[in-house]
Amino acid sequence: MKTIGYGIVGTGYFGAQLGRILRTLDGAEVRAVYDPANGEAIAAEFGCDAAESLEALCSRDDIDAVIVASPNYLHKEPVICAARHKKHVFCEKPIALCYKDCDEMVRTAQENGVIFMAGHIMNFFHGVRIAKQYIQQGKIGRVLYAHSARNGWEEPQPEISWKKIREKSGGHLYHHIHELDCIQFIMGPATKAVMVGGNVAHQGEQFGDEDDMLLISLEFGNNTYAMLEYGSAFHYPEHYVLIQGTEGFIRIDMCNTGFTMKTKDGTIVTDTTHDSKELDDERTHIYHSTEMDGAIQYGHPGKLPPMWLQSVMNNEMRFFNGIMHGDPVPEEFKALMTGEAARAVIATADAATISRYEDRKVDVSEVIGK
Ligand SMILES: NC(=O)c1ccc[n+]([C@@H]2O[C@H](COP(=O)([O-])OP(=O)(O)OC[C@H]3O[C@@H](n4cnc5c(N)ncnc54)[C@H](O)[C@@H]3O)[C@@H](O)[C@H]2O)c1
Repeated sequence: MKTIGYGIVGTGYFGAQLGRILRTLDGAEVRAVYDPANGEAIAAEFGCDAAESLEALCSRDDIDAVIVASPNYLHKEPVICAARHKKHVFCEKPIALCYKDCDEMVRTAQENGVIFMAGHIMNFFHGVRIAKQYIQQGKIGRVLYAHSARNGWEEPQPEISWKKIREKSGGHLYHHIHELDCIQFIMGPATKAVMVGGNVAHQGEQFGDEDDMLLISLEFGNNTYAMLEYGSAFHYPEHYVLIQGTEGFIRIDMCNTGFTMKTKDGTIVTDTTHDSKELDDERTHIYHSTEMDGAIQYGHPGKLPPMWLQSVMNNEMRFFNGIMHGDPVPEEFKALMTGEAARAVIATADAATISRYEDRKVDVSEVIGK
């Protein structure tokens, strides 16, 4: 088996762990990392090189694929640099903070004939995979409506992470794009968006400048709808995606972690959201031991992701490494592997953002220029 050489851009909380996972996979070797602050330490841990620049990493002949896990506002440059050097790319979510940047990234990957996979990790949850299968089998009939919540409470912080600064993370909607991605994966791209919200309870020096309450309604153009809630101004923690069909429903809960489906004949099917009951219980425990950890997740360099998250990261990296070794891209993941699904999600987020600032319902075609 050929060994795929990997480079990692951004080795903080998430990038370092993606690297640790890659190092356990067959036919995968992390050969260099680039991170101005944490590169040396992680290179020493991995026994690989710490590149001096992005260009130095992307131009290496022994690197076939680049993992991008820098802060959200710093994804575009490494993705484009890697693609121009004909390296395949895995880029963390959100791939960028506006449609125009996503479009440039997708086109550059296409022009250079490389894979551009977005780190939309919910696609690798057990509960999401079985939800898609059940929906395809018609178990809940035609999907009419989806409702998601990703709500918690944020306490004052000793220092402000880039994750709390709108310009750097995009704020709750962009930074936690997962639920919107999951809903669009099931229902297709939204056609119209309305968003209301604001910073209702987190002003001052111990907080960032993001909106802490966002309420989004979406239309999909075929008499189907969705509502999404996001924020850190909610003392009652909730985190779920609920899908309502003509014959039943599916609820994928990530707070009281577990999967529930009701089908036409009244049967209730229960399952896990993650790969085992232990992982689900760990996630539930994290939510219930602190209102904040669940919805906000202040990961920082040096902190290890919880086991449930490591297990999904493992599924995701295993999948990407398989594709690097020539595994066929499953039909359902074609748009995930070109950046097009990620671009479509940002288009909807941009339409919602215009709606919030201009106080009107916005057609997504206005964002994508069609
Ligand atoms: N899929 C998920 O569930 C999930 C979870 C956490 C983070 N993420 C994503 O992973 C990415 C990284 O987040 P994190 O939690 O690791 O943040 P982090 O702050 O812990 O790490 C970011 C790292 O990037 C480095 N960096 C800064 N500027 C850089 C540059 N120009 N080039 C290269 N590296 C640079 C920083 O030094 C730091 O080590 C983000 O896009 C985030 O949204 C995804």
